[in-house]
Amino acid sequence: MGREEDRTTVGVVGCGYWGPNHIRNMLSLEASGTVHMKAAVDPDPARRLRIRDLYPQIEVSDGVAAVFSDPDVDAVVLSTPTGTHFRLAGEALRAGKHVLVEKPLATSIAHCEELIRLAAEHELVLMVGHTFEYTAAVNTIQGLVAEGALGEVLYVRSLRVNLGLHRRDVNVLWDLAPHDISIIRFVLDAEPTHVTASGNANVTAGIEDIVSLNLHFGEKAMANVIVSWLDPRKVREMTFVGTRKMLVYDDVAAAEKIRIFDKGVDRPSEYDSFGEFPFAYRYGDILSPKLDDYEPLREQSSHFIDCIRLGKRPRSDGESGLAVVRALAAAQISLRNDGRKVALADPAVLDVEGSGAPPFAD
Ligand SMILES: NC(=O)c1ccc[n+]([C@@H]2O[C@H](COP(=O)([O-])OP(=O)(O)OC[C@H]3O[C@@H](n4cnc5c(N)ncnc54)[C@H](O)[C@@H]3O)[C@@H](O)[C@H]2O)c1
Repeated sequence: MGREEDRTTVGVVGCGYWGPNHIRNMLSLEASGTVHMKAAVDPDPARRLRIRDLYPQIEVSDGVAAVFSDPDVDAVVLSTPTGTHFRLAGEALRAGKHVLVEKPLATSIAHCEELIRLAAEHELVLMVGHTFEYTAAVNTIQGLVAEGALGEVLYVRSLRVNLGLHRRDVNVLWDLAPHDISIIRFVLDAEPTHVTASGNANVTAGIEDIVSLNLHFGEKAMANVIVSWLDPRKVREMTFVGTRKMLVYDDVAAAEKIRIFDKGVDRPSEYDSFGEFPFAYRYGDILSPKLDDYEPLREQSSHFIDCIRLGKRPRSDGESGLAVVRALAAAQISLRNDGRKVALADPAVLDVEGSGAPPFAD
């Protein structure tokens, strides 16, 4: 155990579905002597009671002031509804706290930029909970793509669907697609240039619960992402089609989450182009790399603490939070305009105040 003053003291704000996972993982890091998981905040009495039951060693309060004005607290994790992220992250940064904000970072480009500016001004870490960037599977895929094992990636398809949880403060685009967009940016090491999106609001008027999103990366790769709260099965599956190989990542599979298919099609050469020689299809081996077994949220929490202690820039920093929000904002325009193609550089994207739902009272 390190000396008390050597530890990074953490407060978690928001103890609904996801917040308790942050608390549990921060507590698990205490054994390393680098973290003190001190306090939790939630205005909902039932949620406070649950945290007191689960973790009696933690101070639990009903308002952020208890944590933001506590000089012992170095860092806060915000696991509150999306519409509160900007205000709470801004307050925390102004109070001198390092901040890990759940995805999406905020609901407009201007808000993301303001948080990035505040973090820089106060020399504080600002990180976004793009959890999948901390999974063994996504890191393996990123490594394979970076070393060219798939060839040039032409196409990505992502399916992230299940029944519920129907949220009232965001549509399914802002709720689930941050994961797909962050994974695809990370793996391809590229920014989308254009998007199209279409969707339906079936259960709650005005809040899309099924969205199909296309991300175009210039003249090169494209990605199709389907996110839905209205589906009989929980599916988290991504396919990466490269010029040399193809890869399927099934995040809910118990084993062989990644399978690499030595499959493809070779075009006949120009000499053969009179149709005498058909396309040559390759059906080779299927390989499944072994993946390290760890909880991604623990890896993400540990990275946040490392960045604070070592003065490092997080992998999912404010800029990457902004890039994801830029793609969401462009997609939001397309979604509300019959799926028209929207460039991320279109000035109208700057005006989007997103989340796809009526203003949420927190
Ligand atoms: N990274 C992931 O894989 C992942 C998974 C689930 C949720 N999330 C994100 O986590 C965040 C929370 O999601 P959730 O599913 O836990 O939602 P939730 O509605 O279950 O919980 C949110 C909690 O925040 C509390 N809250 C609201 N306003 C507050 C305030 N001003 N101060 C303190 N607490 C406040 C609410 O009382 C509630 O208990 C969202 O941004 C969501 O996108 C991320």
